[in-house]
Amino acid sequence: MKIVLCGACGKMGKNVAELAGSGSDTIVCGVDIAPAPAPFPVYTRFADVTEAADVLIDFSSPTALEERLRFCEDRGIPAVLASTGYSDNDLALIENYSKRVAIFKTGNLSLGVNVLQYLAKKAAQALGENFDAEIVERHHREKKDAPSGTALMLAKSVNEGFGGGKENVCGREGAVGARKRSEIGIHAVRGGTIVGEHEVMFAGEDEILTLSHSARSRKVFAAGALKAAAWMRGKRPGIYDMDDLLDGIFNQ
Ligand SMILES: NC(=O)c1ccc[n+]([C@@H]2O[C@H](COP(=O)([O-])OP(=O)(O)OC[C@H]3O[C@@H](n4cnc5c(N)ncnc54)[C@H](O)[C@@H]3O)[C@@H](O)[C@H]2O)c1
Repeated sequence: MKIVLCGACGKMGKNVAELAGSGSDTIVCGVDIAPAPAPFPVYTRFADVTEAADVLIDFSSPTALEERLRFCEDRGIPAVLASTGYSDNDLALIENYSKRVAIFKTGNLSLGVNVLQYLAKKAAQALGENFDAEIVERHHREKKDAPSGTALMLAKSVNEGFGGGKENVCGREGAVGARKRSEIGIHAVRGGTIVGEHEVMFAGEDEILTLSHSARSRKVFAAGALKAAAWMRGKRPGIYDMDDLLDGIFNQ
């Protein structure tokens, strides 16, 4: 695959470039607002990209989202959007472009986290509403968004497992009163170089079930991005996610 890599000079961009270089894929160029030396050209704007490409992989930030979606539309190539922290406006933009561009979007590209998401939904279904669900996520000190995209994905699946009607409560402070049954608590811990840890706790009467996942290196996300990029080749316009790639495990 010939890949254009947005966010090429960041932590994830470097991991993707390294992994692609060790296989049969090629990063034809990068796009990064803070360019740094790389073994391929790095531009600050998509308008400067002249290289032919099969796919865009994005590990940058939600800013300037439309520029990269328009690039994919003009080139007729799919987009793998791995950045997190999208606003409602960004999500509406992605929805709009998905009529003309094949877009893969996920808050987490690791197989383990996606199995955790599946198990958390099943656990909520089996345990029922007498159990309170709380999610704790831990990431490195430089992470810009909170809660993590993965924590939000997990909360959505837990809510589905409970049959809907829950609301996310992000952190608690002060005289918040007793916990409501409708809450799914989400707590963001930041520090050091933690790659990414997610814990889903179901607390009931006298028993607690905890499901957790720990990413030990960023390679797991880079490998997932390359796998998603290969899988997206030739896909029709629309929005795809890990469940599509994993053959519908969440709907089983
Ligand atoms: N989906 C997943 O599995 C997954 C896994 C890890 C990280 N992420 C997400 O990927 C993103 C990048 O993570 P990171 O740890 O590499 O961050 P980082 O800060 O190390 O790197 C981001 C890079 O993108 C560049 N950038 C920022 N805005 C840009 C823009 N508008 N156009 C072009 N370049 C831009 C920055 O200059 C930087 O080089 C974050 O949103 C993070 O949450 C997702």
